Amino acid sequence: MDLIHKFLNLVAPSFTFFSLFFILPPFYLFKSFLFILRSVFPENLAGKVVLITGASSGIGEHLAYEYGKRGARLALAARREKSLHEIADRARYLGSPDVIVIRADVSKVDDCRRLVNETMGHFRRLDHLVNNAGINTPCLFEDAPPDMANFRTIMDTNFWGSVYTTRFAVPHLKNSNGKIVVLSSAASWMNDPRYSVYSASKAALTAFFDTLRIELGSDVSITIASPGYIESELTTGKFLEEDGNFQVHQDIRDVQIGPVPVASVSGCAEAIVKGARRGDRYVTQPSWFRMTYLWKMLFPELVDLGYRLFTLARPGGPHQEALNKRILDLTGLQKVIYPSSIQSPEIKTD
Ligand SMILES: NC(=O)c1ccc[n+]([C@@H]2O[C@H](COP(=O)([O-])OP(=O)(O)OC[C@H]3O[C@@H](n4cnc5c(N)ncnc54)[C@H](OP(=O)(O)O)[C@@H]3O)[C@@H](O)[C@H]2O)c1
Ligand SMILES: *[C@@H]1O[C@H](CO)[C@@H](O)[C@H](O)[C@H]1NC(C)=O
Repeated sequence: MDLIHKFLNLVAPSFTFFSLFFILPPFYLFKSFLFILRSVFPENLAGKVVLITGASSGIGEHLAYEYGKRGARLALAARREKSLHEIADRARYLGSPDVIVIRADVSKVDDCRRLVNETMGHFRRLDHLVNNAGINTPCLFEDAPPDMANFRTIMDTNFWGSVYTTRFAVPHLKNSNGKIVVLSSAASWMNDPRYSVYSASKAALTAFFDTLRIELGSDVSITIASPGYIESELTTGKFLEEDGNFQVHQDIRDVQIGPVPVASVSGCAEAIVKGARRGDRYVTQPSWFRMTYLWKMLFPELVDLGYRLFTLARPGGPHQEALNKRILDLTGLQKVIYPSSIQSPEIKTD
């Protein structure tokens, strides 16, 4: 048995390397042809039914506007109902013929069941499920409380919330030959310190939906969005506290993002809906962020070093001492590279 593996260890790399030359060019030519075809004939969303979780702010809110503009009927879900109603009004104004609002906490399996049930009860069909609801808490692993309640809530919302909702939606999506859009993150491969469980929840989403894509085949297509830094309440600095409430902490936000430009939320939502209509497997916005995947693959040690240098203070020191924060404080760069909506700490309350 060992001999077989010794043989494969030798043969597999060289075979893979040589096949790149023969398989890659025709394969990419074929893929480009399909891409052009799907760009010329994207899905028509008029009258389609789209369920969006986490639609009360940020990317989810703007996805509602993008789908609404194209005439889709919407079911908008989140915990802040008042904000959802305001967003529903705007989506109707932009062109959506019918919008319903559902108050739901996706970390609860019964809420996810009800979410899909109420959507089906009202519209009698479901074409797109957008798993967008997500939260974060910046916290070094060693600083986490012993029960790790805040970490578990992240997994319950980001990962299990998407999985539960998908479980109840899949039979209906199969009937309509529908689509699933899921908000993973560039954090699934870029491992920012203090985001260990957030990154893990996003990597778990990518792995889960990559598998589901194979299981569902052509019945339901799946688009995994992996944005970089996008203006929203998350990048305003809204984070989950140990007591279960949400607070805005812009200093730690500055430590985490530093002098990296934050992209507009409308542009992000537009790119995601465009990708979903084309049936793309992955969407990364801003698209230059795709390069970080290569950096991580080619120079993992340098990426680690960069993170240590820029986001961590000296051991035991306050996080405000991190280089990222000092660069922003010294230069005032955030006035230029952060959208104005995330410069002030205001977020929506219900
Ligand atoms: N902004 C970025 O830079 C960025 C980058 C990569 C990925 N993402 C992902 O994009 C998604 C949207 O985030 P965002 O940036 O737009 O932040 P956001 O403005 O904070 O929006 C998060 C949304 O999720 C909802 N939500 C949170 N917990 C929920 C729960 N338990 N049940 C139902 N809804 C819940 C929130 O509504 P309620 O509080 O009203 O429930 C809100 O509508 C997240 O999955 C995030 O991880 C964001
Ligand atoms: C919603 O749930 C109720 C109660 O379980 C059930 O009777 C009904 O058929 C469900 N509706 C749909 C559209 O699945």
